[in-house]
Amino acid sequence: MGSEGIARRGSDAWVTSRWTRAYDWDWTTAKPTSMTEHSARLRADILPPSFYYHVLRVVQEQPSSELDVGTLRVQCVEATDTVRSILSACHSPRSIASIIAEVHGAAAGTKGAVLGVTQALIRAGLLAPAGAEEPPDTAAAFHAARTLYGFFQQEEEMVPAMEAIHAHAPKTVVEIGTAWGGSLFCWAQVADPDALLVSVDLPGGVGGAGYLPESIPHFRNFCFEGQELVAILGDSRDSAVIGAVDDALAGRSIDLLFIDGDHAYEGVKADFEQYSPLVTPGGMVMFHDIQPQTEVDPAQRIEVSVFWDEISAGRRSHSFIADPSQSGAGIGIIYMD
Ligand SMILES: C[S@@+](CC[C@H](N)C(=O)[O-])C[C@H]1O[C@@H](n2cnc3c(N)ncnc32)[C@H](O)[C@@H]1O
Repeated sequence: MGSEGIARRGSDAWVTSRWTRAYDWDWTTAKPTSMTEHSARLRADILPPSFYYHVLRVVQEQPSSELDVGTLRVQCVEATDTVRSILSACHSPRSIASIIAEVHGAAAGTKGAVLGVTQALIRAGLLAPAGAEEPPDTAAAFHAARTLYGFFQQEEEMVPAMEAIHAHAPKTVVEIGTAWGGSLFCWAQVADPDALLVSVDLPGGVGGAGYLPESIPHFRNFCFEGQELVAILGDSRDSAVIGAVDDALAGRSIDLLFIDGDHAYEGVKADFEQYSPLVTPGGMVMFHDIQPQTEVDPAQRIEVSVFWDEISAGRRSHSFIADPSQSGAGIGIIYMD
């Protein structure tokens, strides 16, 4: 919308978009160990260390593979004090005149500067007309996850999986194996806006990924305001980790369990046996890498397909496979009837 259109809407009420998120991550110093220098450098070159963005307006151009972010373009607004003041003033709907009066009154800048910043926020979609529907867009959320955090998933599999999850609107999500945060990002966008998200990840676990405690505040930033994120760093089979997941759930059952941690047969089986009894009747258990691994990876055994064939037989299940000839990949869901 041009500034003329914004001015015409000047007396309408604006509210901070439900897709507005904060981001603060200095990629020059905080590269996950398993991410390539090239991927981290691309992010460092294009992303200011602290900004606000609209989840569905992050644009990725010419991605070259799921592990390589390709060319990036992120529409974002740097997180100045004025920007923060305007966005927090608009938790409840405000007219442009009242935003300017409040933020200018709080000495955040001249009236003209506050108007200019407000217009920039509207153009970036970070302020939305009050009452606008703002529906989700799973493909756009996927691109944002890949661009901003990076992950180990393919669009053709992840997007339909996100659609299935969105239809289910889980209020409790447990993810085993978070790595750089991309899949957790996606679940947050399609889960209930008040959902509890529990991430279990082993830093330096099999496959050499995992995140560090410093990543946790960054991951919290991509959640909806009403969501709670509990991050548990440890082995999913460790009794202290199992106890921490129980504590986080506080008696609730799991609506979506995503198993993407240890990919060896015993690992994936143990995760299923440990956590699936906690899943709500009718709830979902989702696995990544359900296709046979035909190219042997010396760094890890990927044997999810063997367990998937066993566990999905005779159950209500669904799979999303981009390329049946590909080694590994593929997302499978079973419903715990
Ligand atoms: C394939 S990566 C996860 C990818 C992530 N879900 C995504 O889509 O971007 C596997 C992750 O599981 C973690 N992991 C491996 N073994 C684990 C275990 N026993 N308990 C918890 N996490 C484990 C690894 O450290 C790694 O971060």
